[in-house]
Amino acid sequence: MENYGIIGWPLGHTMSPTLHNWGFGRHGIDADYTAWPVAPEALSRFMDRVRAQPISGLSVTIPHKRTVIPFLDRLTRRAETVGAVNTLYWDGDALCGENTDVLGLVAPLKALDRPFSSAIVLGAGGAARAALAGFRELGIPRIAVANRTRAKATSLADEFGAECMDWDARMEAEWGLVCNTTPLGMSGDLAGETPWDGRRFHPDAVAYDIVYNPLETRFLREADAAGCATVSGLEMFLHQGLAQFRLWTGHDLDEDGARNLLLDALKA
Ligand code: ATR
Repeated sequence: MENYGIIGWPLGHTMSPTLHNWGFGRHGIDADYTAWPVAPEALSRFMDRVRAQPISGLSVTIPHKRTVIPFLDRLTRRAETVGAVNTLYWDGDALCGENTDVLGLVAPLKALDRPFSSAIVLGAGGAARAALAGFRELGIPRIAVANRTRAKATSLADEFGAECMDWDARMEAEWGLVCNTTPLGMSGDLAGETPWDGRRFHPDAVAYDIVYNPLETRFLREADAAGCATVSGLEMFLHQGLAQFRLWTGHDLDEDGARNLLLDALKA
Protein backbone atom coordinates (compact mmCIF):
# COMPACT_ATOMS: atom_id res chain seq x y z
CA MET A 1 0.00 0.00 0.00
CA GLU A 2 1.19 3.52 -0.84
CA ASN A 3 1.11 6.23 1.81
CA TYR A 4 0.04 9.82 1.30
CA GLY A 5 -0.92 12.50 3.78
CA ILE A 6 -0.99 16.09 4.94
CA ILE A 7 1.36 17.84 7.36
CA GLY A 8 0.56 21.00 9.30
CA TRP A 9 0.55 22.40 12.85
CA PRO A 10 -1.83 22.56 14.50
CA LEU A 11 -3.58 20.53 11.86
CA GLY A 12 -7.12 20.98 13.16
CA HIS A 13 -9.86 19.71 10.92
CA THR A 14 -8.92 19.05 7.30
CA MET A 15 -11.09 17.77 4.44
CA SER A 16 -8.07 16.53 2.46
CA PRO A 17 -8.17 12.93 3.80
CA THR A 18 -11.87 12.72 2.88
CA LEU A 19 -11.18 13.88 -0.67
CA HIS A 20 -8.11 11.79 -1.43
CA ASN A 21 -9.25 8.55 0.24
CA TRP A 22 -12.52 8.84 -1.71
CA GLY A 23 -10.47 9.31 -4.89
CA PHE A 24 -8.24 6.29 -4.18
CA GLY A 25 -11.38 4.19 -3.68
CA ARG A 26 -12.99 5.45 -6.88
CA HIS A 27 -9.92 4.63 -8.93
CA GLY A 28 -9.10 1.32 -7.24
CA ILE A 29 -5.73 2.60 -6.00
CA ASP A 30 -4.24 0.75 -3.02
CA ALA A 31 -3.27 3.83 -1.02
CA ASP A 32 -4.09 5.59 2.21
CA TYR A 33 -4.06 9.33 3.02
CA THR A 34 -3.38 10.30 6.63
CA ALA A 35 -3.44 13.55 8.61
CA TRP A 36 -0.03 13.99 10.29
CA PRO A 37 0.23 16.85 12.78
CA VAL A 38 3.92 17.85 12.57
CA ALA A 39 5.25 20.56 14.87
CA PRO A 40 7.81 22.97 13.35
CA GLU A 41 10.66 21.44 15.36
CA ALA A 42 9.71 17.95 14.11
CA LEU A 43 9.70 18.87 10.40
CA SER A 44 13.29 17.81 9.70
CA ARG A 45 12.74 14.36 11.25
CA PHE A 46 9.49 13.96 9.34
CA MET A 47 11.19 14.83 6.05
CA ASP A 48 13.77 12.07 6.70
CA ARG A 49 10.82 9.71 7.03
CA VAL A 50 9.32 10.95 3.73
CA ARG A 51 12.49 9.80 1.95
CA ALA A 52 13.13 6.64 3.97
CA GLN A 53 9.64 5.14 3.96
CA PRO A 54 9.07 6.53 1.24
CA ILE A 55 5.85 8.53 1.39
CA SER A 56 4.44 8.77 -2.14
CA GLY A 57 3.00 12.27 -1.90
CA LEU A 58 2.30 14.94 0.67
CA SER A 59 0.03 17.93 1.10
CA VAL A 60 1.67 20.72 3.06
CA THR A 61 -0.18 23.37 5.02
CA ILE A 62 0.49 26.12 7.55
CA PRO A 63 3.15 26.64 8.94
CA HIS A 64 5.32 24.45 6.67
CA LYS A 65 4.59 25.83 3.20
CA ARG A 66 7.85 27.77 3.05
CA THR A 67 10.02 26.03 5.64
CA VAL A 68 9.72 22.66 3.85
CA ILE A 69 11.47 24.00 0.72
CA PRO A 70 15.10 23.38 1.87
CA PHE A 71 14.24 19.68 2.22
CA LEU A 72 13.27 19.32 -1.46
CA ASP A 73 15.35 18.51 -4.55
CA ARG A 74 13.39 20.67 -6.97
CA LEU A 75 10.55 23.18 -7.25
CA THR A 76 8.23 23.81 -10.17
CA ARG A 77 8.51 27.27 -11.67
CA ARG A 78 5.10 28.11 -10.19
CA ALA A 79 6.20 27.09 -6.68
CA GLU A 80 9.34 29.16 -7.13
CA THR A 81 7.28 32.21 -8.12
CA VAL A 82 5.01 31.88 -5.09
CA GLY A 83 7.87 31.01 -2.78
CA ALA A 84 5.72 28.34 -1.12
CA VAL A 85 4.61 24.76 -1.78
CA ASN A 86 1.47 22.88 -0.78
CA THR A 87 2.22 19.61 -2.62
CA LEU A 88 5.20 17.24 -2.61
CA TYR A 89 5.56 14.56 -5.28
CA TRP A 90 8.28 12.32 -6.66
CA ASP A 91 9.75 12.68 -10.13
CA GLY A 92 11.90 9.53 -10.24
CA ASP A 93 14.24 9.88 -7.26
CA ALA A 94 13.73 13.63 -6.97
CA LEU A 95 11.39 14.97 -4.29
CA CYS A 96 9.63 17.94 -5.88
CA GLY A 97 7.46 20.81 -4.63
CA GLU A 98 4.49 22.27 -6.45
CA ASN A 99 1.91 24.87 -5.48
CA THR A 100 -1.56 23.67 -6.48
CA ASP A 101 -3.13 26.49 -4.42
CA VAL A 102 -2.40 28.68 -7.43
CA LEU A 103 -4.00 26.19 -9.83
CA GLY A 104 -6.95 25.83 -7.46
CA LEU A 105 -7.41 29.55 -7.20
CA VAL A 106 -7.28 30.10 -10.94
CA ALA A 107 -9.46 27.14 -12.07
CA PRO A 108 -12.89 28.58 -11.11
CA LEU A 109 -11.96 31.93 -12.67
CA LYS A 110 -11.02 30.21 -15.93
CA ALA A 111 -14.36 28.38 -15.79
CA LEU A 112 -16.16 31.76 -15.72
CA ASP A 113 -14.60 32.36 -19.14
CA ARG A 114 -14.52 36.13 -18.92
CA PRO A 115 -11.65 38.59 -19.09
CA PHE A 116 -10.62 40.62 -16.06
CA SER A 117 -9.11 44.04 -16.54
CA SER A 118 -8.25 44.49 -12.87
CA ALA A 119 -8.11 42.65 -9.55
CA ILE A 120 -7.52 43.56 -5.93
CA VAL A 121 -6.18 41.12 -3.35
CA LEU A 122 -7.24 41.82 0.24
CA GLY A 123 -4.66 40.60 2.74
CA ALA A 124 -0.94 39.93 2.43
CA GLY A 125 -0.34 36.46 3.92
CA GLY A 126 0.32 33.12 2.25
CA ALA A 127 -3.04 32.94 0.47
CA ALA A 128 -2.47 36.44 -0.93
CA ARG A 129 0.81 35.24 -2.48
CA ALA A 130 -1.05 32.43 -4.25
CA ALA A 131 -3.70 34.90 -5.43
CA LEU A 132 -1.10 37.32 -6.80
CA ALA A 133 0.74 34.53 -8.61
CA GLY A 134 -2.56 33.19 -9.97
CA PHE A 135 -3.77 36.56 -11.21
CA ARG A 136 -0.44 37.07 -12.92
CA GLU A 137 -0.76 33.65 -14.58
CA LEU A 138 -4.19 34.76 -15.81
CA GLY A 139 -2.60 37.82 -17.35
CA ILE A 140 -4.79 40.34 -15.50
CA PRO A 141 -3.24 43.67 -16.50
CA ARG A 142 -3.89 45.66 -13.31
CA ILE A 143 -3.36 43.89 -9.99
CA ALA A 144 -3.33 45.55 -6.57
CA VAL A 145 -2.90 44.40 -3.01
CA ALA A 146 -4.30 46.05 0.12
CA ASN A 147 -3.54 45.00 3.66
CA ARG A 148 -4.31 46.26 7.15
CA THR A 149 -0.56 46.35 7.83
CA ARG A 150 0.68 48.36 4.89
CA ALA A 151 4.33 47.31 5.03
CA LYS A 152 3.40 43.72 4.20
CA ALA A 153 1.35 44.83 1.20
CA THR A 154 4.20 46.99 -0.04
CA SER A 155 6.76 44.20 -0.07
CA LEU A 156 4.31 41.73 -1.64
CA ALA A 157 3.34 44.27 -4.30
CA ASP A 158 7.03 44.86 -5.10
CA GLU A 159 7.71 41.14 -5.34
CA PHE A 160 4.82 40.47 -7.72
CA GLY A 161 4.92 43.70 -9.71
CA ALA A 162 1.51 44.78 -8.34
CA GLU A 163 0.20 48.08 -7.01
CA CYS A 164 -0.08 48.69 -3.29
CA MET A 165 -3.39 50.25 -2.22
CA ASP A 166 -3.95 51.82 1.14
CA TRP A 167 -6.28 49.62 3.21
CA ASP A 168 -8.54 52.62 3.75
CA ALA A 169 -8.60 53.43 0.01
CA ARG A 170 -9.22 49.87 -1.20
CA MET A 171 -12.83 50.50 -2.26
CA GLU A 172 -12.20 53.78 -4.04
CA ALA A 173 -11.26 52.32 -7.43
CA GLU A 174 -13.47 50.01 -9.48
CA TRP A 175 -12.16 46.42 -9.57
CA GLY A 176 -13.18 43.62 -11.91
CA LEU A 177 -12.23 41.04 -9.33
CA VAL A 178 -12.20 41.44 -5.55
CA CYS A 179 -10.47 38.61 -3.72
CA ASN A 180 -10.58 38.18 0.05
CA THR A 181 -7.61 36.31 1.51
CA THR A 182 -8.09 37.57 5.07
CA PRO A 183 -9.89 35.48 7.71
CA LEU A 184 -12.71 38.05 7.96
CA GLY A 185 -16.01 36.16 7.66
CA MET A 186 -14.61 32.82 8.81
CA SER A 187 -16.82 30.87 11.20
CA GLY A 188 -16.01 31.72 14.81
CA ASP A 189 -15.29 35.20 16.15
CA LEU A 190 -14.93 36.74 12.67
CA ALA A 191 -18.08 35.18 11.16
CA GLY A 192 -20.10 38.40 10.88
CA GLU A 193 -17.22 40.45 9.45
CA THR A 194 -16.33 41.36 5.91
CA PRO A 195 -13.37 43.15 4.29
CA TRP A 196 -15.69 45.06 1.90
CA ASP A 197 -18.57 47.48 2.28
CA GLY A 198 -21.58 45.72 0.72
CA ARG A 199 -22.73 49.00 -0.84
CA ARG A 200 -19.43 49.37 -2.69
CA PHE A 201 -19.62 46.29 -4.92
CA HIS A 202 -19.78 47.06 -8.62
CA PRO A 203 -22.35 44.72 -10.25
CA ASP A 204 -19.95 43.75 -13.06
CA ALA A 205 -17.35 42.57 -10.55
CA VAL A 206 -16.59 39.04 -9.42
CA ALA A 207 -16.21 38.51 -5.67
CA TYR A 208 -13.90 35.67 -4.66
CA ASP A 209 -13.58 34.51 -1.06
CA ILE A 210 -10.79 32.18 0.02
CA VAL A 211 -12.81 31.38 3.15
CA TYR A 212 -14.96 28.26 2.70
CA ASN A 213 -16.39 27.83 6.16
CA PRO A 214 -19.09 29.08 6.11
CA LEU A 215 -19.74 28.40 2.43
CA GLU A 216 -21.53 31.72 2.06
CA THR A 217 -19.67 34.42 3.93
CA ARG A 218 -21.07 37.87 4.53
CA PHE A 219 -18.67 39.11 1.81
CA LEU A 220 -20.18 36.72 -0.77
CA ARG A 221 -23.76 37.23 0.38
CA GLU A 222 -23.48 41.00 0.01
CA ALA A 223 -21.69 40.68 -3.34
CA ASP A 224 -24.45 38.42 -4.61
CA ALA A 225 -27.10 40.88 -3.43
CA ALA A 226 -25.28 43.62 -5.36
CA GLY A 227 -25.51 41.55 -8.55
CA CYS A 228 -21.90 40.30 -8.63
CA ALA A 229 -20.82 36.84 -9.67
CA THR A 230 -19.30 35.02 -6.68
CA VAL A 231 -16.72 32.27 -6.19
CA SER A 232 -16.53 30.44 -2.89
CA GLY A 233 -13.34 29.23 -1.23
CA LEU A 234 -14.64 25.69 -1.58
CA GLU A 235 -13.91 25.90 -5.32
CA MET A 236 -10.28 26.75 -4.62
CA PHE A 237 -10.01 23.95 -2.08
CA LEU A 238 -11.63 21.51 -4.48
CA HIS A 239 -9.41 22.41 -7.43
CA GLN A 240 -6.15 22.44 -5.46
CA GLY A 241 -7.08 18.91 -4.33
CA LEU A 242 -8.00 17.73 -7.84
CA ALA A 243 -4.63 19.01 -9.06
CA GLN A 244 -2.82 17.15 -6.27
CA PHE A 245 -4.62 13.91 -7.09
CA ARG A 246 -3.72 14.29 -10.78
CA LEU A 247 -0.07 14.94 -9.94
CA TRP A 248 0.15 11.87 -7.69
CA THR A 249 -1.91 9.34 -9.64
CA GLY A 250 -2.29 10.65 -13.19
CA HIS A 251 -6.07 10.38 -12.76
CA ASP A 252 -8.70 13.12 -13.02
CA LEU A 253 -11.22 12.92 -10.20
CA ASP A 254 -14.89 13.40 -11.03
CA GLU A 255 -15.30 17.12 -10.26
CA ASP A 256 -19.01 17.12 -9.45
CA GLY A 257 -18.69 14.00 -7.29
CA ALA A 258 -15.79 15.54 -5.39
CA ARG A 259 -17.67 18.83 -4.90
CA ASN A 260 -20.70 17.00 -3.49
CA LEU A 261 -18.44 14.99 -1.19
CA LEU A 262 -16.90 18.21 0.19
CA LEU A 263 -20.28 19.91 0.53
CA ASP A 264 -21.50 16.93 2.57
CA ALA A 265 -18.34 17.03 4.67
CA LEU A 266 -18.83 20.75 5.37
CA LYS A 267 -22.45 20.23 6.39
CA ALA A 268 -21.40 17.45 8.75
P1 ATR B 1 -2.74 33.07 5.27
O1 ATR B 1 -1.36 32.48 5.22
O2 ATR B 1 -3.83 32.07 5.40
O3 ATR B 1 -2.99 34.03 4.16
P2 ATR B 1 -1.91 34.96 7.29
O4 ATR B 1 -0.53 34.84 6.77
O5 ATR B 1 -2.12 34.87 8.73
O6 ATR B 1 -2.83 33.84 6.66
O7 ATR B 1 -2.53 36.29 6.70
C1 ATR B 1 -3.73 36.76 7.12
C2 ATR B 1 -3.96 38.11 6.45
O8 ATR B 1 -5.24 38.57 6.86
C3 ATR B 1 -2.95 39.15 6.85
O9 ATR B 1 -2.68 39.95 5.73
C4 ATR B 1 -3.70 39.96 7.92
O10 ATR B 1 -3.37 41.33 8.00
P3 ATR B 1 -2.11 41.87 8.86
O11 ATR B 1 -0.92 41.68 7.98
O12 ATR B 1 -2.43 43.28 9.13
O13 ATR B 1 -2.06 41.03 10.11
C5 ATR B 1 -5.12 39.86 7.44
N1 ATR B 1 -6.05 40.01 8.56
C6 ATR B 1 -6.19 39.20 9.62
N2 ATR B 1 -7.15 39.67 10.45
C7 ATR B 1 -7.61 40.82 9.89
C8 ATR B 1 -8.58 41.80 10.26
N3 ATR B 1 -9.30 41.67 11.40
N4 ATR B 1 -8.78 42.88 9.45
C9 ATR B 1 -8.05 43.01 8.32
N5 ATR B 1 -7.11 42.13 7.91
C10 ATR B 1 -6.90 41.05 8.69
